[in-house]
Amino acid sequence: MVPEQSSPVRLAFPELGDGELAAVAEVLADGQLTMGPRVDEFEALLAQAAGTTHAVAVSSGTAALHVAVLALGIGPGDDVLVPAYTFPATANVVALAGGRPVLVDVDPVTMNIDAEDAARRLTPNTKAILAVHLFGRPARLEELPDEPILEDAAGALGASHGGRPCGSLGLLACFSFHPRKIVTTGEGGAVTTDDDLIAERVRSLRHHGWSPSDTYVDMPQPAFNYRLSDVLAALGIPQMRRLDELLAQRERIAAGYAERLADLDVVLPAADEGDRHGWQAYVVQVDRRDEVMAGLRAQGIQCQIGTYALHHLGAYRDQGPFPGADAAFERALALPLHGRLTDADLDRVADALDKLVSHH
Ligand SMILES: Cc1ncc(COP(=O)(O)O)c(C=O)c1O
Repeated sequence: MVPEQSSPVRLAFPELGDGELAAVAEVLADGQLTMGPRVDEFEALLAQAAGTTHAVAVSSGTAALHVAVLALGIGPGDDVLVPAYTFPATANVVALAGGRPVLVDVDPVTMNIDAEDAARRLTPNTKAILAVHLFGRPARLEELPDEPILEDAAGALGASHGGRPCGSLGLLACFSFHPRKIVTTGEGGAVTTDDDLIAERVRSLRHHGWSPSDTYVDMPQPAFNYRLSDVLAALGIPQMRRLDELLAQRERIAAGYAERLADLDVVLPAADEGDRHGWQAYVVQVDRRDEVMAGLRAQGIQCQIGTYALHHLGAYRDQGPFPGADAAFERALALPLHGRLTDADLDRVADALDKLVSHH
């Protein structure tokens, strides 16, 4: 039973304050709600953080993935390697573009794409690899077969691998600003790239197919309205300015968990040596995960599964066994992670886990 006086420990809590309120109020006062200067400013901050020449803001992480896949020219007859353990949008966009998502197993410890399995799954039609930095942990992209790489960096804003920011490691990358991400605009996303042509295509695809280089006069192809409103871009600007601080807060929580959970039979998340984790989520792995999750919830501690094993979803059945993805799907448990967590909250989570999980 939850003692009545103890409030729940929340899984996530967006970092929005007076700065965001003032930024939104300014947009409302200006009256330019879309295609205004806030989108440009947000994009400039994103490009700087990702270390790329271009950042193009769109209406969600899924929209970013969709236009990224289309900008790569993926269509019918094309295969794209996608991890079998990821948020389904990663694979959905390939299918929606008319291509075939070819599932690849994940490493059961890092929960990121398994490079050896990727090499095995290559086909003559493979056009790209869609690699995910899952939960913000940078994936080892350099181990992957030599194909164009699209990074799903939805949760990896601020993360880095081999000294370079996630978002600049592949040919192009996608970010999400959903409320469980470190920077949130409610809904939102972006594509980053150093490639001028890809950036041009993405700008066109988010805006009906109008051609940016033709000052939006001609429409060479039909496309979407995937624009981000200036109201939402304004929300993201103050958060982008304090991205380092937001990441440091999450690093503090992650270190707090690591210290408290060290003696338990729990696989703790970590980035590779020298990398910076983006800490989109703090996802441990435990035996009897569903029981542990129910036990935490019964004590008012919000928690969640990690993400999905695509080969168990109706849309992606029949691609064969994926033991790494199965292990991750069955064992992953996301613990509360946000800047308002106190030491007392961390103690409460650790004490609850201590009673639910065995010791080394
Ligand atoms: C790995 C991954 N890819 C893609 C997405 C989709 O982003 P959005 O929810 O902004 O459409 C998410 C978001 O949850 C994600 O975690």
